[in-house]
Amino acid sequence: MDGKNYIAGRWVEAVGGARFESRNPARFGQVLGTVALSNREDAEQAVVAAKTAFAGWRALSRIKRGEYLDRFIDAIKVQVDEITSFVASEAGKAYNEAKADVVEGIHMAQYMFGHARLPSGQALPSELAEKDAYMFRKPKGVVTVISPWNFPFAIPIWLITPALLEGNTVVFKPSGNTPLVGEKIVECFERAELPPGVLNLVQGTGGDAGWPLVTHPDVEVVLFTGSYEVGSRIKEACVKDYRKMYACEMGGKNAMIVCQDADLDLAVRAAILSAFKTTGQRCTSASRLIIHESRMEEFAKAFVAMARRIVIGDPLDPQVFMGPLINEAATKKVGSYNLLAKQEGAEVLLDGGRLEEGAYRDGYFFSPFIYHMAHRKDARVLHEEVFGPHVALIPFQTLDEAVAIHNGVEYGLACSVITEDYRIARRLREECEFGVGYWNLPTIGAEVHLPFGGLKKSGTGVPASWPLLDLVTHKVAWTVNHGREIRMAQGLSTEV
Ligand code: UN1
Repeated sequence: MDGKNYIAGRWVEAVGGARFESRNPARFGQVLGTVALSNREDAEQAVVAAKTAFAGWRALSRIKRGEYLDRFIDAIKVQVDEITSFVASEAGKAYNEAKADVVEGIHMAQYMFGHARLPSGQALPSELAEKDAYMFRKPKGVVTVISPWNFPFAIPIWLITPALLEGNTVVFKPSGNTPLVGEKIVECFERAELPPGVLNLVQGTGGDAGWPLVTHPDVEVVLFTGSYEVGSRIKEACVKDYRKMYACEMGGKNAMIVCQDADLDLAVRAAILSAFKTTGQRCTSASRLIIHESRMEEFAKAFVAMARRIVIGDPLDPQVFMGPLINEAATKKVGSYNLLAKQEGAEVLLDGGRLEEGAYRDGYFFSPFIYHMAHRKDARVLHEEVFGPHVALIPFQTLDEAVAIHNGVEYGLACSVITEDYRIARRLREECEFGVGYWNLPTIGAEVHLPFGGLKKSGTGVPASWPLLDLVTHKVAWTVNHGREIRMAQGLSTEV
């Protein structure tokens, strides 16, 4: 498959004619396709197209715009299996997770389509009986969407569909690791006959294609999901521009707290999903399991035994639980954190690492690494996001201590508490710093209609679901006088 840019309703090569390869992380010899490698000029053309299309798109009713999302959903539904295989091959996600990614994308588009007929403004009271006051929403204009590879289908749809529903136009730059899934999304919008310029696609790297889309003076809103390093640069660039708004979702160092009274079987299963689904490469993955010391031994035994049974392999094989890491750099990074854990004094319980024998030879396969380590401020492995199958078992004695360990990192996205005691669960819900919390569940698997966005280094703004509708609209107040005289609120006199 050959990927192009999509600008003003036409599939075009990058201005400079350059291309890059997209490869299968499970079989890196396999080139899935080549894709247009864009630069500032392509970004410029895409922003111009989006800006030009804005007036016509915002002039449609919200319900008419929503109907395009309905047709977009139809276009996805007829090719769910094909798109799923694509997600599995390009992102390396195990087949059933790749399918969940596609389903999550459909759910978000359905949710936004449903929103089209829901109230979008408010009727508000006035201090004066003859006045009516309202809140109306206006679209902002051109929105840049920069999305990650780990949810190559769902996350772009999380970001694009609220922006479009509210009358904005979009320039979309997918991760350079999953450009072809990005192209599939745009193809589905094309099949939905979205008017030209309403959604534009610019393929390439963050530096050459993404950055001009972030800093462009005609871009009003930047929506980003990815690393803290890139997100914080985006935030800095946006605050320097007096009108840019942004929402950034940037990862985590998530934890599950397993209390003294926990149902151990449930705790172990929840921990396996939290630590190893998507090969630990979710921003919601748990890399810290904070376990009451009285349950540590039995938990560790059962958790390690189950982790050993995890089937690692080609994502297209339905038996596989864990696919590969995304690329060579990821294997280096996770490997270096495994080593660092040992250097920092971890007691290794399962020594995982790069798999290179036999069927694993041609992919970025990695097995689970599990260790026991007391919480320490100076242990980098307990504080930095690893984004791989790397997980610490950290003991605690009192609930105060569990909360302190939970909150003692710079991130705050997903949290899970495992207890049978509703008082403990409520206390942890109140005291732990997180954006997405669970009781007796894994830290992963949020549904699309829930707010999603973390605290601290994990995020700014709530870059998904209905809170995003606020970010991509300007809420204006509109007050109407039905009287023949001017009377003012706050007792303000009209005498001259
Ligand atoms: C991410 O990894 O950036 O809650 C998002 C979850 C998914 C979304 C993860 N629905 O695990």
